[in-house]
Amino acid sequence: MEFKRVVGTRRSIRWFKPWRPVDRSKIQTILEAANRASRSMNADYPRALVVYRDDLPDEVREALRNPTTSVDLDLAPVFIFWYFDLNYPSGTQDRLKELVAQNALPAAHGWSDAYVEEFLWPQVLAPIAKDPNALVFMGATETGIAICNALNAAVDEGLGTCLHAFTAPDKVKAIFGVPDTWIPVWLQLVGYPMEEPEAGGQRPRQPLGALFFEGNCNTPWEDDPATTSRLRSEGLIQEPGPLPWREKEVQMIARMFGLPEGSARQEDIPAHAAPGTPASLTRWLSALGANDPARAGEAEALTGTLESFIAFAGAEGPDELVERCVRTTKQGDLALSAKGRREIDQQIDAWAAERGLRGRDAIVAGNRIREFLIHNGVFMQGRVAFP
Ligand SMILES: Cc1cc2nc3c(=O)[nH]c(=O)nc-3n(C[C@H](O)[C@H](O)[C@H](O)COP(=O)(O)O)c2cc1C
Repeated sequence: MEFKRVVGTRRSIRWFKPWRPVDRSKIQTILEAANRASRSMNADYPRALVVYRDDLPDEVREALRNPTTSVDLDLAPVFIFWYFDLNYPSGTQDRLKELVAQNALPAAHGWSDAYVEEFLWPQVLAPIAKDPNALVFMGATETGIAICNALNAAVDEGLGTCLHAFTAPDKVKAIFGVPDTWIPVWLQLVGYPMEEPEAGGQRPRQPLGALFFEGNCNTPWEDDPATTSRLRSEGLIQEPGPLPWREKEVQMIARMFGLPEGSARQEDIPAHAAPGTPASLTRWLSALGANDPARAGEAEALTGTLESFIAFAGAEGPDELVERCVRTTKQGDLALSAKGRREIDQQIDAWAAERGLRGRDAIVAGNRIREFLIHNGVFMQGRVAFP
């Protein structure tokens, strides 16, 4: 793919084909691209640990779940754990002298072996190597630059990819023998996208003039319309999301995996509660479009499922389920209750088991209840039900 189209096509992909492994040569390409990134001091900052999903112990996968990363971990076949090695300054003089020997750092610009050994290292670089803030700042920045190449290389290889918070470094370290000097940065998930490569359209960005300036910081960058139009034709600028079919695309994929469905956008929800209907129930059904007369019967079926869970949980009604997941902070603010959510989550599994549901059926039914909570602002993570 042309460079501009790669950059323009890259999206954070959160739906992967779980059944399709990634050819090892594509992973090598990703690593090679990362290794080719520019780097200050010519130092080797990044480290990557490639692990295949099916070799990942369940305890690691569970520990990696966090509020921003969950279903992705069940679907993506390749995990690249990115780190930087705190020892990166070691050997800097030799690596700079290699650049001097190649005339990449030429005498014409003032470079020499003696300058590297006698002045640059002792006076400039060695102090940086002793400054913990500088070490972390540079390590993280430089690894980010390498990861950026890795993301774009994945897209160029026809893969989907997304970076994720790397929240269980201790578990990963213990199981995979990660050295003590490696500092975790991000987790990159890689696989074949389940969604279209457009993934619903290019994600929102501010115009250049809001971010970039020319000459001085009071003069916003002004786009040249002819250039903008060329960049559109070359694929750097693409149709912004959401494309008209995006909602259906996500709905169909979610249904394939038995995951919670419905529009996550609150403003999509019309206020049409029948008198006496609990607000939480209305929100859920509206988010699913289940009040649409063309889908008569669906609302009744969903309400019946929820009522069964309400009875199992010993709640007064739907609103109480939501209330159980919420707490008031010391400052008097409303917050989600980790304990309340965990309890409801466990009750959901117990309820499905009591109804005699097993395997996919149990997960799908449980995810309906989670879906109800999600549409009422309670952050829940559905489980993937493989067909
Ligand atoms: C360093 C970094 C960390 C990220 N962490 C997460 C994450 O933990 N979970 C997630 O779903 N997306 C994560 N993302 C993806 C961003 O949310 C995403 O880049 C943003 O929504 C813009 O979308 P785009 O990447 O498709 O342009 C991360 C992105 C970056 C660059």
